[in-house]
Amino acid sequence: MDPTQRGGSAGRQAEGERPRRVTTLRLRQMKQAGQKIVCLTAYDALMARIFDEVGVDVILVGDSLGNVVQGHETTIPVTLEEMIYHTKAVVRGVRRALVVTDMPFMSYQVSTEEAFRNAGWILKEGGAAAVKVEGGAHIVETVARMTAAGIPVMGHLGLTPQSIHQFGSYRARGTDPKEAEQIVRDAQLLEEAGAFAIVLEKIPAELARRVTESVAIPTIGIGAGVHCDGQILVYTDMLGLTVEFQPRFVRRYEHLYERIREAVARYADDVRMQRFPSEEESY
Ligand code: KIV
Repeated sequence: MDPTQRGGSAGRQAEGERPRRVTTLRLRQMKQAGQKIVCLTAYDALMARIFDEVGVDVILVGDSLGNVVQGHETTIPVTLEEMIYHTKAVVRGVRRALVVTDMPFMSYQVSTEEAFRNAGWILKEGGAAAVKVEGGAHIVETVARMTAAGIPVMGHLGLTPQSIHQFGSYRARGTDPKEAEQIVRDAQLLEEAGAFAIVLEKIPAELARRVTESVAIPTIGIGAGVHCDGQILVYTDMLGLTVEFQPRFVRRYEHLYERIREAVARYADDVRMQRFPSEEESY
């Protein structure tokens, strides 16, 4: 397919060509140039490699792995060691994309010092190029400490899944004027603290537009409308692997749950009926 029909060939690479790494600076330039930033989650080398080859700009090792890989109901149980384990796998599959790793719940809330040490560990041991933290005003000191030491930080505002027990639901955020003002303010504070980008999750499109216009760093939307500088989805949602989770902001580009079921059922049938392996598949 002609890459220009799919929004340009910016991120795609010819075979054998050494790709130029996506950097935080490059993301800012993309915002300035009005080029949309393509982001996806990944949790292992296999998927990360495919996304990287296609030219996804940012691969997030999201703590959503707690839900989609580990089968937990929330992201709360995910540990720092688990995030590092998955980060190492993703990094092995990536040549071009910027790999960002979520700091899991309680790895950055206790103290700035502890957060700083854990973030450093994610970069040193995991091999990520940046970390992501949820929250605004209350964590800007921590963000400033990390960025001053050369640890790139992505913010995350709006719906922040690690606060599920505080809010009690995954409803949209910023729908009342006070909450909306706080989100705009938090975004500005994160930028001042040195964050290189901010994920905006499940907030009104108009509010996301305001935030996007009020900061020079890129905003990455998930359920935040079209005005953000980039978009991110959990890959299992957009490929139709997680079928119970169907919020309206997820567009399904595949229905892999069904397709995998069908393929595995055919394989099982073939084994039971002794149609697999055939002679050609035997030695
Ligand atoms: O954990 C995650 O996958 C995320 C994205 C939804 C932005 O934080």
